[in-house]
Amino acid sequence: TEDSLGSLKKQLAKLFEASLRVTVPTETDVEPLVAACTGNFGDYQCNNAMSLWPRIKGKGTEFRGPPAVGQALMKNIPSSEMIESCSVAGPGFVNVKLSKSWIAKSIQKMLTYGIGEWAPKLSVERAVVDFSSPNIAKEMHVGHLRSTIIGDSLARMLEFSKVEVLRRNHVGDWGTQFGMLIEHLFEKVPNWEDASETAIGDLQAFYKESKQRFDEDGVFKERAQKAVVKLQGGDPKYRKAWTQICDISRREFDRVYQRLGVTIEEKGESFYNPFIPGVLEKLGNLGLVEESQGARVIFLEGVNIPLIVVKSDGGYNYASTDMTALWYRLNEEKAEWIIYVTDVGQSQHFEMVFKAAKRAGWLPADNNSYPRANHVGFGLVLGEDGKRFRTRSTEVVRLADLLDEAKTRSKAALIERGKDKEFTEDEIEKTAEAIGYGAVKYADLKNNRLTNYTFNFDQMLSDKGNTAVYLLYAHARICSIIRKSGKDIEEVKKTAELSLDHPDERVLGLHLLQFAENVEEACTNLLPNVLCEYLYNLSENFTKFYSNCPVIGKPEEASRLLLCEATAVVMRQCFSLLGIVPIYKI
Ligand code: ARG
Repeated sequence: TEDSLGSLKKQLAKLFEASLRVTVPTETDVEPLVAACTGNFGDYQCNNAMSLWPRIKGKGTEFRGPPAVGQALMKNIPSSEMIESCSVAGPGFVNVKLSKSWIAKSIQKMLTYGIGEWAPKLSVERAVVDFSSPNIAKEMHVGHLRSTIIGDSLARMLEFSKVEVLRRNHVGDWGTQFGMLIEHLFEKVPNWEDASETAIGDLQAFYKESKQRFDEDGVFKERAQKAVVKLQGGDPKYRKAWTQICDISRREFDRVYQRLGVTIEEKGESFYNPFIPGVLEKLGNLGLVEESQGARVIFLEGVNIPLIVVKSDGGYNYASTDMTALWYRLNEEKAEWIIYVTDVGQSQHFEMVFKAAKRAGWLPADNNSYPRANHVGFGLVLGEDGKRFRTRSTEVVRLADLLDEAKTRSKAALIERGKDKEFTEDEIEKTAEAIGYGAVKYADLKNNRLTNYTFNFDQMLSDKGNTAVYLLYAHARICSIIRKSGKDIEEVKKTAELSLDHPDERVLGLHLLQFAENVEEACTNLLPNVLCEYLYNLSENFTKFYSNCPVIGKPEEASRLLLCEATAVVMRQCFSLLGIVPIYKI
């Protein structure tokens, strides 16, 4: 509905803003500082009094210190049905206790109008999320898996917040490696025009072979280098071979995306290639591009190496493409927020690209203004041995194999629990996929992305602790409580009234209402782990409620069923934002 005001925190901030304008009319630039309470003094607190005091002290204020400012801030809050009571504590914190009937009403409204009611409001209309972005002919590895999972989740959160998201796969489809790949194809598969896919078979092995030839055979190397020139010059035969090689990779990538439920649109490096000269000309006209050791570079403040935009051999590189892609996204696609998801190893590259864009005036100097670009970096995936995650044969891990194993293991666990007797074959398959893939995603998302994380199937597939399995089961159990009541929940929604009289009901209800501000924080700080933590705590609060507040057959049954349903709805929305498929029975 149109009168929804955004997150709880924002609604309170509005009330305190009004109070600030009345309490300290001279301080027009002061913004309300509202945070959830950590102690037992209230649900939320406003922390403005302490920082306001030094500002107004010298101006002959009537107040005698921060606690008095706090008292006045409290007194001047416009009356609101949100608030049950307020108090001032310590040096001037204003604590707010929310009205439980207002919390209950808000939850009922969400149940009636849908979870979209609780979508955060962001100040951006269109964003680019550049994620996954593997390189053609090289295997998509666990780093790309992290990028895919994190990027997809960020895109989902932005989309839920009504931002139009351009999901971009910036695949590495344009580089010198294509020379050797194409020459190797011509040599190894004379009938490549009709039979490349079956003949190449394994593109990664094919890449290795051609790399070996390139390194060992001088004549081949020379041919490969000439092939790059022909390809980039548009020679039809070379273009065709390139297209075929890209297609094979693409099909492999798509299978992974499909299994993970990820949609993404490919605009690879080659797409931007024709725009590079024009963009470099613009940068040149601005006086940004200089000559350095035969290369064309952009010097940047605070970075000891320049950004090379034309190599000394006259060729373009990763940075020329990224400068061009950034220009394209800002000017052609009119994106206001551009988000790049790669490992932290590329931090410096993006720092330099963004700095160059600021020098060009494409991006504002202030990082928090729009249009805005952010690098979302993430740490390494480690194996049990604490080293980079690899398989036994020290090869990189194939994503398809990894997903297979996750599914096989979760299917085995279901069969061990005797589910093969209760579930149809199709249900077993779907549940095993939801749990297996969900576990892989959640294990990745629940950590702060900047830290390295250890990949461990046993841990991620455990039904105890902060895992997808635990959360998916918790959701399924809530659904079964509702089913067992024998009530039609749609009817209950229309007729029953939610009340939060038991303290554990109130805690759960308040936590439900905090969904919006958690999604908002996860979005604006680009940290999906914030949402994971929220979800895990939600499940813990539900458990506490359910063990102290019996539902079925009790006088409170209808109200408590509504609380069960609201919890299930919010859990499902969290799953959806994390790219996890819920299960309804277990
Ligand atoms: N292809 C690159 C890699 O595998 C990632 C590309 C990220 N996106 C970008 N616009 N540079 O490392």
